[in-house]
Amino acid sequence: MSVPLLDLVAQYRTIKDSVLPAMMAVIERQGFIMGPEVAELEAEVAKVSHAKHGIGCASGTDALLLPLKALRLQAGDEVITTAFTFFATAGAIHNAGGTPVFVDIDPATFLISPAAIEAAIGPRTRAIVVVHLYGQMAAMEAILPLARRHNLAVVEDAAQAIGARRRVAAEWRMAGELGTVGAFSFFPSKNLGAWGDGGMMVTQDDALAERLRKLRLHGGARQYHHEEVGTNSRLDTLQAAVLKAKLPHLAGWSEARRHHAAYYTQAFAGSSDITTPVVDRGNEHIFHQYTLRVSRRDQLAAHLKAKGIGHAVYYPLALHLQPCFAPLGYRRGHLPVTEAAMDAVISLPIYPELTEAQRDEVVATVKGFYQ
Ligand SMILES: Cc1ncc(COP(=O)(O)O)c(C=O)c1O
Repeated sequence: MSVPLLDLVAQYRTIKDSVLPAMMAVIERQGFIMGPEVAELEAEVAKVSHAKHGIGCASGTDALLLPLKALRLQAGDEVITTAFTFFATAGAIHNAGGTPVFVDIDPATFLISPAAIEAAIGPRTRAIVVVHLYGQMAAMEAILPLARRHNLAVVEDAAQAIGARRRVAAEWRMAGELGTVGAFSFFPSKNLGAWGDGGMMVTQDDALAERLRKLRLHGGARQYHHEEVGTNSRLDTLQAAVLKAKLPHLAGWSEARRHHAAYYTQAFAGSSDITTPVVDRGNEHIFHQYTLRVSRRDQLAAHLKAKGIGHAVYYPLALHLQPCFAPLGYRRGHLPVTEAAMDAVISLPIYPELTEAQRDEVVATVKGFYQ
């Protein structure tokens, strides 16, 4: 039996009766630009994230770019982030006019290391982009005091972590709740995926929310009047309608992902070749990815491919080693924990609709390789 890494058609079958009418309502109205579904979704995502404001935009990439643009970075201004993430995290820093400063990660969770952030803070540091990688939150309780002490903005790259939460000072805090701004992606493969591109920013800050609303509409609150130079980064109304219909399912889908993760983790326990995901203390993981650290990773990947088992490596080349960032001067050896991770990680199918038979097939195929 082959098992895909992700099966969006399986999800579509379960939700089409609610999503298609929501889309048709927009189509019947021919109201595609900033229809009421956008503001409704913004309010709902803000609520899920314990945030005061939600501001829809065209993608998760723009949800990072617009808040960074709002900082009005000057040439040479630095933004600290992780190199073990999707390209957009650092691409947005560059495109906002900043210089990414890459720091290392925690070896167990793959999340940005607060100690490494602290060591990298210098006179040109303006912000930190924290990535809640694979669906669990970074150590916000350690990062926020550093940011406060040095007057830095904190952008939470929560593209993979909508609905994830972490106990901070004995209270559940949501991904996107505590930073200056949180950025979500609605890329179709995300836990809350649109049927195209989409993104959203959340913030508690009234003035910042107003600026972000302008920046996504060419920098003006009133049509044809522009206080600053923004761009066209609206959230498409059809996508907002899809997302609104899907949002009530999100908590259940995350629960299903956690259930699959627990099953895998128990099945792989005791193997000296496989390290199962470490959930950081205080975190409720949403398992956007279920990512193992394994020995002989590339051979395992070839074995899975031959057997038809979906898998992926997130991410095979860390951002400090990407050719486009060569001018920054990083080399192999600069971020040893990140480099060890990129050579050892592999992600397995974890989508909510995965069946027990499919899970067993994945487990048997991985175990079969190491036996
Ligand atoms: C960590 C991370 N940041 C940013 C993004 C960018 O989101 P999008 O693809 O919606 O632009 C993604 C997803 O693709 C991501 O995984």
